[in-house]
Amino acid sequence: MSAIPIGVVTISDRASTGIYEDRSGPAIIAELQHILATPWRAETRLIADEQPLIEQTLMELSDERHCPLIVTTGGTGPALRDVTPEATGAVCEKMMPGFGELMRSVSLRSVPTAILSRQTAGIRGRSLIINLPGKPAAIAECLAAVFPAIPYCIDLIGGAYLETNPDVCRAFRPAK
Ligand code: MTE
Repeated sequence: MSAIPIGVVTISDRASTGIYEDRSGPAIIAELQHILATPWRAETRLIADEQPLIEQTLMELSDERHCPLIVTTGGTGPALRDVTPEATGAVCEKMMPGFGELMRSVSLRSVPTAILSRQTAGIRGRSLIINLPGKPAAIAECLAAVFPAIPYCIDLIGGAYLETNPDVCRAFRPAK
């Protein structure tokens, strides 16, 4: 079986220009390695907070690389340059607001500023796109919260069949 491509997109002006190292993209990869039992490979991108560039990257990963799952990090806050949710909304046919709601409510247990993230999720073709905040500490917390629903969501849009390590994450699929 060939490895399933998963998009890992870091959106940060400073990391993309080398002012600091990207720690959030590698944190997503580490968490996916922990959770996923299905062979997969990362399609990584490191880009600036520019809406047209974010849209172009998400479209490329969905339409050309055929990633069933694309996880972004960064650009979800209230600052002027934070436009990841707008770019996600612009390329998706359907929004999946429950992902953002759950991630914010779980994050609120550890940080009161969790409400500052406008993180969302949506469907483009056969890809599920999920936004995470830019903080490396947010990655495992947010992914672990929503991952049980991800494989079934991807089944419903006709994407690849993802299996998880049951001792780490129990994916929910209704009985047939
Ligand atoms: N969520 C978690 N789990 N952990 C965090 O540290 N930081 C918050 C919020 N959500 C945070 C979090 C803060 S301070 C901001 S400004 C927003 O995410 C937006 O972050 P972003 O613009 O880097 O995406």
